[in-house]
Amino acid sequence: MIDLLIKNGKLAGKKELADIACDKGKIIDTGRCLDMPARETVDAGGNLITPPFVDSHIHLDTCLTAGTPRMNQSGTLLEGIRIWGELLPSLTPDEIAGRVRKMLTWSLAKGNLHLRSHVDISGDSLMAPEVLMDLKKEMAPFIDLQLVAFPQQGIFRNPKGLENMERALDMGLDVVGGIPHFEPTTALGAESVKILCGLAAERGLMVDMHCDESDDPLSRHVETLAWETREKGLQGRVVGSHLTSMHGMDNYYVTKLIPLMADAGLSAVCNPLVNMNLQGRHDSYPKRRGLMRVPELMDAGINVSLGHDDVMDPWYPLGSHDMLDVAHMGVHALHMTGSDQIRALFDAVTINGAKTLNIEGYGLEKGCNADMVILQAANRIEAIRLRPVRLFVIRRGRIISRMAPETAALDLDGETISTEFKL
Ligand code: FE2
Repeated sequence: MIDLLIKNGKLAGKKELADIACDKGKIIDTGRCLDMPARETVDAGGNLITPPFVDSHIHLDTCLTAGTPRMNQSGTLLEGIRIWGELLPSLTPDEIAGRVRKMLTWSLAKGNLHLRSHVDISGDSLMAPEVLMDLKKEMAPFIDLQLVAFPQQGIFRNPKGLENMERALDMGLDVVGGIPHFEPTTALGAESVKILCGLAAERGLMVDMHCDESDDPLSRHVETLAWETREKGLQGRVVGSHLTSMHGMDNYYVTKLIPLMADAGLSAVCNPLVNMNLQGRHDSYPKRRGLMRVPELMDAGINVSLGHDDVMDPWYPLGSHDMLDVAHMGVHALHMTGSDQIRALFDAVTINGAKTLNIEGYGLEKGCNADMVILQAANRIEAIRLRPVRLFVIRRGRIISRMAPETAALDLDGETISTEFKL
């Protein structure tokens, strides 16, 4: 008797329905008309089964704080940083843990089973990293958390920046972060990239930097990040996050930059919800969108995934941690409405994210971890159009979340009909 049998699911890009058999946490078979005794059987009813959503870039330590002590009225990055500074003294381990636990229930219900969270290591107490390390262990049966040691105040601007980075990595955080555009000078920004990549190479870790998150078209630290990746032999382990300055860069320069990034095997993480909100705030009209050049990066063979970045915090007041909201915004803001492009953005919140995070055992093939989501949608385009109900979220062959399908009952002059928004 196997643990779970899923019948009649739709897999991305396939016409035929498929069944998936799961046992002992793994997918043991896929195909048509599998017939084996199972402790639980789910009829997917022709709905899309996808590997779990991956949020490649989130800040769990700041989530669900919007309005404390006040809302960000200007919507700017700088007012957000000021509000965060006002909030910091009131944080306690219990308060942080309570918020993050609540947020992770949303994440699970939305089918996000892999998150890479940046965690601020600027405070000498390293309180938030410690809380997040505990939560990572506590939640491991349900969700994979990767933690990035994120020096929000930089490693030069903050005199203890580098020391705190080393301490956070000693605590066991997974990934070396950075913020070169926030260092005091451009030269020190480049120096920070070199030092931090060196640290990652020494310790055998991955790198994920907030890089060029500004509207300054001359913010070009991603160039140094790409070069250092090659110099230090870190190919496939380094991510440039945000890269918003790329939107306003000189076009000729970009034709030189993108091949350099591709050669270095860099992944790029775009955060459409938050950067559509924060960027272009110093522009009059026209206002720049401030997103990296995703179609061009993808065309060059660079792995691009998407992140939610913030959920209800000083930088972004909205969100329910739905990665399909992120992809939906990306479709519009990146001008990616072609059918293949919409599918590519669905992949950017699933399989590309798995590549960014270097996740093993991800996918719906035999032998992969039995982690998946059944959506109330027939295919990837419908999933982004509707951002539908996650009917079942499955982790290691066990259903960890269920939602009823969304159906409206209409009363039209005595005639009752029901409708759902699927075609
Ligand atoms: Fe971020």
